[in-house]
Amino acid sequence: MKKFLDLGNQPLANSYLKKNQLNQKEKKFRLEIGFNPKNFLVSILNTVPKEKMFNKNYPYKSSESFTMRSQFQKLAVKLKKKFKPKLSLEIGSNDGAFIKNFKKEEVIGIEPCKNLAKITKKKGYKTYSEYWDIKLAKKISSKKKIDLIYSANTLSHIKNISEIFKAINLALTDNGVLVLEDPSLLECMRNLAYDQFYCEHIYVFSTLSLQKTLKVADLEIFDIENLTTHGGSNRYYIKKKKNINFKISSKVKSNLSKEKKFGLNKFKTYKNFANKVKKSKFNLEKIFNDLIKKNKKIIGYGATAKSCTVLNYCNINHKKIDYFYDTTSFKIGSYLPGSKIPIRSYQKLDTKKIDYVFLGAWNFKDEIFKKEKEFIKNGGKFFTHVPFPHII
Ligand code: TYD
Repeated sequence: MKKFLDLGNQPLANSYLKKNQLNQKEKKFRLEIGFNPKNFLVSILNTVPKEKMFNKNYPYKSSESFTMRSQFQKLAVKLKKKFKPKLSLEIGSNDGAFIKNFKKEEVIGIEPCKNLAKITKKKGYKTYSEYWDIKLAKKISSKKKIDLIYSANTLSHIKNISEIFKAINLALTDNGVLVLEDPSLLECMRNLAYDQFYCEHIYVFSTLSLQKTLKVADLEIFDIENLTTHGGSNRYYIKKKKNINFKISSKVKSNLSKEKKFGLNKFKTYKNFANKVKKSKFNLEKIFNDLIKKNKKIIGYGATAKSCTVLNYCNINHKKIDYFYDTTSFKIGSYLPGSKIPIRSYQKLDTKKIDYVFLGAWNFKDEIFKKEKEFIKNGGKFFTHVPFPHII
């Protein structure tokens, strides 16, 4: 791995603090990012043990978001129509937002976070509360192989990725399909969205890197959809290499050439990115300092895991942002890790109380701007670091 970016000492992004933890010393790790010139994988260098992040206290529930619920429902209908699977499986089934769209006897969930697995088990869905690996793949598929494996925003969180793909190959029927969804490295670089890197996101995949990694497990990509979720994601359709029933779509070639054109196969592209990130930090700090000098009231909107990286890297704490608004029940009343900014229950933005709003959830900008039309009309302002620090 060749290191190209150092985002400093960071706390665990989803470890929101309770009031009584504010004076305790937080565990931090060095967030450094590297590039592997052999297989083009981009990953964080110092990984946190999975048990520290994905355990019985995992806070994120997919079903709490209306957008996620409806996207999963639509996708389940589409995949069932397209591939007609008799048996499906989801790696990272969370609280069941995707698997609940299947008949109970036709789907299996894999969810190591026990608090989440409990929810789907209770509803009658077969759920293994274990980490996905070869042993588990053998156990599950020894009697009946799987026709469709789906995994969204999960495989990029798992360190031994080649092993994971080998386990998938083992569990799939010969005509089986893996549908994999994760943030796109190309969009992350284009948007200078360095906040896609945090403890849980061990990898940010490109088509180039996935193609190489899948090859080791005798798998290959046969189609891709470019999505807008999470600031730009890709949905990859993957099959066994020996399976000739699916034609390789022209989307695969076009994604690969877009990425090569951008230079995702060259180390120098990443060095350039790192230089731009340093400038971005300087300019974001400048925006904050200028607004504070002018006595402006600043709050944050959307206490995302991504914000954790930005706030800690750019030295933004509760002295610079009064509080964050967020709609997620488990976040309200707690504090963002590291920066210790309080998170309050969302209220409609009001220019009588707030001048400037830092967009933590920049990936939901359109939805948020629609909701806050009145605030913007009355002269309220938003600002963001994506794709460069600016007041919108
Ligand atoms: P998410 O997109 O999951 O980002 P990450 O993976 O980096 O944590 O989180 C979006 C957050 O923004 C979530 O905490 C909910 C919050 N949010 C609001 O509070 N109000 C809104 O209108 C929207 C769209 C999101």
